[in-house]
Amino acid sequence: MPARRTRIVLRDLAKTFRDGNRAVAAVEDVSFEIFDREFVAIVGPSGCGKSTILNMLGGLVTPSAGRVEIDDVGVTGAVPAKVGYVFQKDTVLPWRTVARNIAVGLEYRGVPRPERERRVRDAIALAGLGGFEEAFPATLSGGMRQRVALMRTLVVEPEILLMDEPFGALDTHTKINLHAELLALWQARHPTVVFVTHDLSEAITLADRIVVMTRRPGRVKLVHEVKLARPRDVIKLRETDEYGHEYGRLWHVLGEELAAPA
Ligand SMILES: Nc1ncnc2c1ncn2[C@@H]1O[C@H](COP(=O)(O)OP(=O)(O)OP(=O)(O)O)[C@@H](O)[C@H]1O
Ligand SMILES: [Mg+2]
Repeated sequence: MPARRTRIVLRDLAKTFRDGNRAVAAVEDVSFEIFDREFVAIVGPSGCGKSTILNMLGGLVTPSAGRVEIDDVGVTGAVPAKVGYVFQKDTVLPWRTVARNIAVGLEYRGVPRPERERRVRDAIALAGLGGFEEAFPATLSGGMRQRVALMRTLVVEPEILLMDEPFGALDTHTKINLHAELLALWQARHPTVVFVTHDLSEAITLADRIVVMTRRPGRVKLVHEVKLARPRDVIKLRETDEYGHEYGRLWHVLGEELAAPA
């Protein structure tokens, strides 16, 4: 088997936020690598710096120390064009309809109209938003808005996908459907994915490897390889003993951080 190509490198990363006299050490000593086409999940307690790590990967937050490289190039400033970012807060544009929200990245990249319309149509069907093409975000539920934001990023087919709790606000049923869709899409196009979540089941269902963070200041506690065969059936998977073992082991490690005194 050929050696796997490293796509993303985080080296000795640290971030301290300064706010007047107050300094908050968000993350410290974070080092790991992500391979081409790999699906990596980052889990850890609230406030341990998961979003901060993703923001440093996307060039939105400057590290206090250390370095991020994507394809051997240091990330400084703007999000590279090959990177798609699904933010933790839904970031739909209130003045655009559902269809025009999803189209925004394609418009920006100058994709011709017929292709744009076809891709937006497919994305709307995939996200179960049929019938809402002309609706404005204010008239949608929170979960629907989040699906619009998700599709807006997926529709441009980025090589690298940064996802910050993209399904956090969704009900279990919708969430599991979107897990299946995301896995199908990943299986078909194989983007490199960095996926932040609180939800261990979600991380195990989706990821090749899971990075478990300590509580703040967040450090890498464990990098765990998920040894579950692919393609994965998002429903049946959860009934298997292998899934149960993965969950038990990781829950123990994560639980130490949740239970530890602040
Ligand atoms: N722009 C900022 N200015 C000041 N402090 C910040 C800023 N962004 C994050 N922080 C602080 O850094 C720490 C880590 O925040 P971050 O949002 O990365 O955590 P998280 O792991 O994503 O949490 P959650 O799971 O709740 O989303 C927190 O203490 C937060 O208050
Ligand atoms: Mg966060």
